[in-house]
Amino acid sequence: MNTAVLISGRGSNLASLLAYEKANKANYRIVLVLSNEPEASGLAYAKENKVPYYVVPHRDYQSKQAFEAAMQVYLEKHNIELIALAGFMRLLSSSFITRWQGRVINIHPSLLPDFPGLNTHKKVLQAKKKESGCSVFFVDSGIDTGLLINQTSVPVLVNDTEETLAKRVLQEEHILFPKTLDQVASKQITLENLQTNKQSNKFTTN
Ligand code: GRF
Repeated sequence: MNTAVLISGRGSNLASLLAYEKANKANYRIVLVLSNEPEASGLAYAKENKVPYYVVPHRDYQSKQAFEAAMQVYLEKHNIELIALAGFMRLLSSSFITRWQGRVINIHPSLLPDFPGLNTHKKVLQAKKKESGCSVFFVDSGIDTGLLINQTSVPVLVNDTEETLAKRVLQEEHILFPKTLDQVASKQITLENLQTNKQSNKFTTN
């Protein structure tokens, strides 16, 4: 499935998606990388792997709508069917999400629904949690509120700093995200199925 990866920075998750695609018979093919930040160092991975990449600087547009319309042009031009957000630091509008319903996934470095948003590891340490992890979900128009697809947990150790915890979680992100993208691209997992299962689970437990 033709896939675009959207980034804003370092791009280590983009690198893991590209590496998995190379090493496996993946059901996704990364054919486009977009960044809203001109300086995103992760763009180097697109370049190295000869994947077409473009910067769509959100600051250059007068509105979110205009910014998203500019991205949409690239997405259509490259026949994109699936979008993976990999450290993409802009909230997408509900009209963009509606258009791409069930075809945008994101990764977050906590066990959602706990600790959405920024400064995740700091919040986990402050809350004295014994466990953290990462989550992949179908994006909706909220902040990290979409339907969960997969999670991996890691222990929080007594001497952990934000950096050591982030590193442990990131290692798992690099395994979980490609695997999940592959499952979504193969249609083994769909938003509709997850929604139906969620409803029937509710039904049976009530
Ligand atoms: C990751 O921790 C991801 O979970 C979060 O942003 C970070 C991006 O890191 N959404 P990278 O740019 O992929 O290295």
